[in-house]
Amino acid sequence: MTERLMSLKTEVMEELKKAASVHELNAVKARYLGKKSPLQEVLALMKEADPEEKKELGKAINEFKGFVERELEERLKAITEQEIQKKLESERLDVTLPGKTISLGRLHPLTQIIQEIEDICIGMGYEIAEGPEIETDHYNFELMNLPKGHPAREMQDSFYIDVVNLLRTHTSPVQARVMQKAGGKPIRIISPGKVYRRDNDDATHSHQFMQIEGLVVDKDITMTDLKGTLALLMRKMFGDELEIRFRPSFFPFTEPSVEVDVTCFKCGGKGCPLCKGTGWLEVLGAGMVHPNVLRMSGYDPEENQGFAFGLGIERIAMMRYGIDDIRYFYLNDPRFLKQF
Ligand code: FA5
Repeated sequence: MTERLMSLKTEVMEELKKAASVHELNAVKARYLGKKSPLQEVLALMKEADPEEKKELGKAINEFKGFVERELEERLKAITEQEIQKKLESERLDVTLPGKTISLGRLHPLTQIIQEIEDICIGMGYEIAEGPEIETDHYNFELMNLPKGHPAREMQDSFYIDVVNLLRTHTSPVQARVMQKAGGKPIRIISPGKVYRRDNDDATHSHQFMQIEGLVVDKDITMTDLKGTLALLMRKMFGDELEIRFRPSFFPFTEPSVEVDVTCFKCGGKGCPLCKGTGWLEVLGAGMVHPNVLRMSGYDPEENQGFAFGLGIERIAMMRYGIDDIRYFYLNDPRFLKQF
């Protein structure tokens, strides 16, 4: 009997050596300690043995079981260790390899210009206002002192959606919306946004472009306030090198009206195709708010005065970055956008 147990021990050792995974080890355990193990033969013999032999046999069987369990445990430890090593090896990370470069996005140059102008104006006490891009004829034209049939409507050839609604041709309708809401109180706002016109696209014109409207309404506001504000804004944007000039102009919603030109960045004022030989690029329109506009939106022009301006963001960005074609802003070409 003891011989049989001895040979079983040798068998177990062989099998354990061969087992290469935890799964295979469990199979060996089941084979030698489970219900169908060869140990059952030995146990069957115990029935016929005398008490002394039974005692011996019991001891030998327990010793065998202890042996198998110890060996199993040893082997389990070794296999687990091997498996961990294998996993570590396969998941090895070389921390010295160069990392993946994540290309960062950036703000569109027009957004950067808007934010810069907003910062300057907020510093002068202005608030930001918003208005809809789909406007009514009433706000876009009528409240801006441009009744139906007014010839100046042609200055801003429009995209109509139906008889009432159109894509706003300028940011000036925000003036009326803000005045109506303010209910007679002083106003100091700017309002950036997209505008649309049936202009033919060329180097300085786009059918969709952006403006920033400015509006100040209060008592004793004069043309001097307008000139001082715009001169300061232009100097902050372009520094002292570029010259600016105020040129008399006409807008139905301001009286008097001016346009502001900046020395053409391309030719330095000598005259070139970009500035159409004038040496100047027009960047904004402005003026003292027309009494009719004040009145129609709830302000008494005898008591209140105001100035307003509307500047073209693309034109400012062109001057700022020396870009000679407005269409680059809308091509979404990463080679262009990456430069800002
Ligand atoms: C207006 O749109 C007036 N609403 C501005 C204004 C506001 C005047 C308040 C008085 C008081 P104008 O059409 O000139 O004005 O446009 C203003 C600016 O927008 C221009 O100076 C120019 O810089 C820019 N601009 C005009 N048309 C285009 C275009 N097609 N493409 C790009 N920029 C343009």
